[in-house]
Amino acid sequence: MSNLTQNILKKHSKLERNASLLLVCSLLAVLVGGIVEIVPLFYLENTIEEVDGVRPYTPLELAGRNIYVREGCYVCHSQMIRPFRDEVERYGPYSLAAESMYDHPFQWGSKRTGPDLARVGARYSNEWHVQHLINPQEVVPESIMPKYGFLARADLRFDNPEAHLIANRRVAVPYTDEMLENAQADLVAQADPDADWSGLEERYPKAVLGDFDGDPSRLTEMDALVAYLQMLGTLVDFSTYEPELNER
Ligand code: HEC
Repeated sequence: MSNLTQNILKKHSKLERNASLLLVCSLLAVLVGGIVEIVPLFYLENTIEEVDGVRPYTPLELAGRNIYVREGCYVCHSQMIRPFRDEVERYGPYSLAAESMYDHPFQWGSKRTGPDLARVGARYSNEWHVQHLINPQEVVPESIMPKYGFLARADLRFDNPEAHLIANRRVAVPYTDEMLENAQADLVAQADPDADWSGLEERYPKAVLGDFDGDPSRLTEMDALVAYLQMLGTLVDFSTYEPELNER
């Protein structure tokens, strides 16, 4: 051992034999480490990147999202693609913070019994989703997903969708007065193949329109859930999106 190392070890043994001194020095070390990690966060202007295309949920999507939460789909499915190569190759571009900025509560999840659903929108047809939800094993024989056929038989209850939008507006989701006024009409129109969709499309660009559950005469919980699934991860156009590199 060199003289220098011996010297340092000697000094360190002093520290190790004096409990109070060791405590004070440990605290100092933790404090400096903490400050170096935490203080820069206060100087970040924005932790959510600005992204084109992200909009509040349509009233029908919001109702479908409620069913997703009610049925505990998050127990088996996450909605956050992590920035790793295996995830990106399987699921598509990694999730951006902005994409869940209007989620109350967020659905990132921490458990994947089934696949991540953050970009499941537009990947399958409505018929596929309906069939899969009614009897997953018919579509994917080895699936352990439960059956949700009752959703197709349950009429969607929507006494006051406007109230739901107002509740979201209170937590900073930018629903406009026009969206509130049209909440009920928009909810019904989105799943009605004969409706005039012009206003709805203007208020909620890229909304998926039409009958979802295969029975246009009824508005069911299945309609709402599939409307929600079909828009997941589709709002941002990744062919034109350029990640903003943090200048640090
Ligand atoms: C017990 C765990 C479990 C629950 C609860 C569950 N799923 Fe699944 N889900 C799975 C598994 C496993 C798969 C993969 C096999 C398959 O496709 O059925 C899957 C697949 C899926 C897929 C296809 C995804 C893809 O990319 O192929 C969708 C969509 C889906 N689930 C939606 C739902 C919805 C909506 C709910 C709630 C109503 C739900 N799941 C509840 C386990 C679950």
